[in-house]
Amino acid sequence: MSVHIDSNVTIEQAFQDFIASYPQYKATEMLDDIRAKDFKRLDNNGHTYLDFVGANIYPESLIREHQDFLLKDVYGNPHSANPTSSLATKHCDHARNYVKEYFNDADDDYDVVFTLNASGALKLIGEAYPFCPESTYVLLVDNHNSVNGIREFARCKNTNFKYAPVKDKTLQIDEEALEQILSDGQGKNKLFAYPAQSNFSGVKHSLDWIHKAQKNGWDVLLDAAAYVPTNQLDLSKHKPEFVSISFYKIFGYPTGIGCLLVKKSILSKMERPWFAGGTIELASVRGDGHFFAEDEEGYEDGTINFLNIPAVEMGLKFIKSIGIDNIQTRITSLADWVLKEILPLKHDNGVNLIELYGTEDLNNRGATLTFNICDQTGKTIFYEDVEEGANKLVISLRAGCFCNPGLSEIVGKFTEDVMRPVFECGEKVSYNEFVNSKKSDYVVGAIRASFGYVSNFKDAYTLVEFIKSYLNK
Ligand SMILES: Cc1ncc(COP(=O)(O)O)c(C=O)c1O
Repeated sequence: MSVHIDSNVTIEQAFQDFIASYPQYKATEMLDDIRAKDFKRLDNNGHTYLDFVGANIYPESLIREHQDFLLKDVYGNPHSANPTSSLATKHCDHARNYVKEYFNDADDDYDVVFTLNASGALKLIGEAYPFCPESTYVLLVDNHNSVNGIREFARCKNTNFKYAPVKDKTLQIDEEALEQILSDGQGKNKLFAYPAQSNFSGVKHSLDWIHKAQKNGWDVLLDAAAYVPTNQLDLSKHKPEFVSISFYKIFGYPTGIGCLLVKKSILSKMERPWFAGGTIELASVRGDGHFFAEDEEGYEDGTINFLNIPAVEMGLKFIKSIGIDNIQTRITSLADWVLKEILPLKHDNGVNLIELYGTEDLNNRGATLTFNICDQTGKTIFYEDVEEGANKLVISLRAGCFCNPGLSEIVGKFTEDVMRPVFECGEKVSYNEFVNSKKSDYVVGAIRASFGYVSNFKDAYTLVEFIKSYLNK
């Protein structure tokens, strides 16, 4: 059953209709209690927060728990035998083990390397993966720039890189093309990188590609940064060689910590280009040599974020206490309802209001809705203008290209003929100059609304009402 809002329908009535269509939402009411207790600042300040892919927001209780931890004892720089150092090491190791438990590394296949963020994890892979002229780097066209950037490490080592396509309309993997690319790939050290969930469109890409690629001799890099905040990644079922994650995207606090989950079995093949304090077993100035430390230690440059790492365990436990299934039920109900409300909207002259990017099917996409709003003539309203309208109503949306140029170019129909000259003309062009020079002829960028664990019906309703305010404009 679909639910309809019109201006005569109050939010209370709309909510009753919503519940009738999504009765499973009722089972997630504990999240309303959590919002009232742990996220008061959202409603106290009149926020409609719809940028959960950008960053999650933290519960008050997590800040208090972490503060209590910090105030309770003295924690020294880890990896020494003194009491305060040992204490810090103990808590960091505990958090490290909990990360493995959270992602169900039941077979103890993985090491957890703490990094600054997902990009830090991706950079570690790029610089240490043994690219050579005989290797290939294949990456999906739908990737965050921090995965795209690995191609520059490949290029430096004369490694070929190739983009695997997605389908123009649904933005899902072009399965036939990818099968072909993976079975054609020759040589040694072949790396295939893709996101479990697109940060642009919210489309989920099947985790079955991990095994399919591995069967063809590929090492797999799964960028899980946009996936794990609302989905359970089970490393006992899916075993990519590398997984990149940012913790603030899962529970909001602290920023500045991510991790690389790396299969132990691939570590011996990696070639770190430098060493730093904390990463070596032995290094010598006179002997001009170094031996790397084993396991994750060889990848954690300098002092780890030892005061904040224990909060990672607290945050993951908070998510576990809610349950990923409850989070899924809540956000999928809200996103599906919004989609059903906005997709049929038309101006009085019959022109569609919304252009949605990616599949409409919530089984294959997360609760991330990326779209543009069209005026009565069918022209796309520039994303910055929509964002400005939302800002005035204290609605936090994200607008632009979301660091995902591959999908931006598909959506905006930017061809190679248009893009290559921008980089070959010999003059540096800023993002704003580029956008301003193209926005009258192309669709540059989009609007992204993403739901998270504390989203509620009011957020969804406010978004729909905001979008409807563009009718007949
Ligand atoms: C899919 C994906 N990968 C990588 C990143 C980079 O994350 P960070 O900026 O935390 O390094 C993001 C950030 O939005 C993302 O959504």
